[in-house]
Order: sequence, then structure tokens, then C-alpha cells
Amino acid sequence: MKKALIIYATRTQNTKGIAELIAEGLRMSGVEVDLLSATDRAVEDLNYDEYDAVILGSATYHGEMMQSMKTLLFRLEQVNLEGKVGGSFGSFGWSGEAPDRIFDTMANIYNMKMVSGPLRLKSPKLQGAIQMAHDYGKEIAKKMEE
Ligand SMILES: Cc1cc2nc3c(=O)[nH]c(=O)nc-3n(C[C@H](O)[C@H](O)[C@H](O)COP(=O)(O)O)c2cc1C
Repeated sequence: MKKALIIYATRTQNTKGIAELIAEGLRMSGVEVDLLSATDRAVEDLNYDEYDAVILGSATYHGEMMQSMKTLLFRLEQVNLEGKVGGSFGSFGWSGEAPDRIFDTMANIYNMKMVSGPLRLKSPKLQGAIQMAHDYGKEIAKKMEE
């Protein structure tokens, strides 16, 4: 069974909600998913070799991703993610820079096999959000079959 890892950075849980919906989309496609917060101690002990896809998300505050995601991105520079499927996501209010910054880092620094683009949603509760996040999970699952 293919396996995906989702790590999110959130303050008021919207980005966590999006992460859970993406996880549902992946599971609907038969992919096993591990879901963790970037602040979780378990993130330090992860074995990335276990995963076929890594999906990272952060909310945007003051035009930036959250500090816990910045720290994680520097740590991941030491891990070989080349060729793994990648995607990014995040909740935002108006500008939503974080998912784009994360996506570009995954593509340019880790040389991952990225999906079509980042998933930016204002809230996991808004109309259409559930479908969009499920579809994103399914797109990632499809890319894992290529
Ligand atoms: C102090 C503060 C600064 C924010 N700065 C931005 C910003 O620069 N750009 C943006 O798109 N949203 C901004 N937001 C909105 C948050 O991204 C939005 O509330 C989002 O849903 C939070 O996600 P979270 O629940 O995962 O923490 C800001 C919110 C607060 C409270």
C-alpha cells in the first residue's frame, strides 16, 4: 500500500481541517496516511523513506508561513525527498503566501515530483472546500501511481 505523510502548521485549526480533508481524499484512493502537526515531537523521529508522498501546509500570518513550518523546511534539507510526490496547502485570509512558498521550496530545493499547484483555501468549512480538498488528495494519489 502506498503511504503519504501530511504535516501542517496552524494557529486557529483551519489548516489542520484542510489537512484532514486532504487525508480523506487520499484514503478514498487507497493511500495510507500519517497526519502530524509541525509542532509535534514525533516529527523529529520520522523516517521519510517510508513515504511515497509528502504534503506540507501552513497558515499565512503577516505574509509568511508559520515558524514551525520554516523550521521543518530547513530540517528537510537534510532528508532525501527527491522523486517523491509533493503538494502544499494552507488556510489564509487575503494574500495566502505560505502554500506557494512551501510548494516552491519542495520543487526547487528537494526536487520533488509536484502536483499541479498548491491548495489555498480560506476555511475548510466554506462551501466547496471539502470537495476541493478531497480532490487535491485524489490528485496526489493519482500522481503516486505515475
Ligand atoms: C494577526 C494576523 C495576521 C494575518 N496575516 C495574514 C496575511 O498576511 N495574509 C493572509 O492571507 N492572511 C492572514 N491572516 C489570516 C489567517 O491566515 C487566517 O485567519 C487563517 O484561516 C488562519 O489559519 P489557521 O487557522 O490554520 O491558523 C492573518 C491573521 C491574523 C490573526
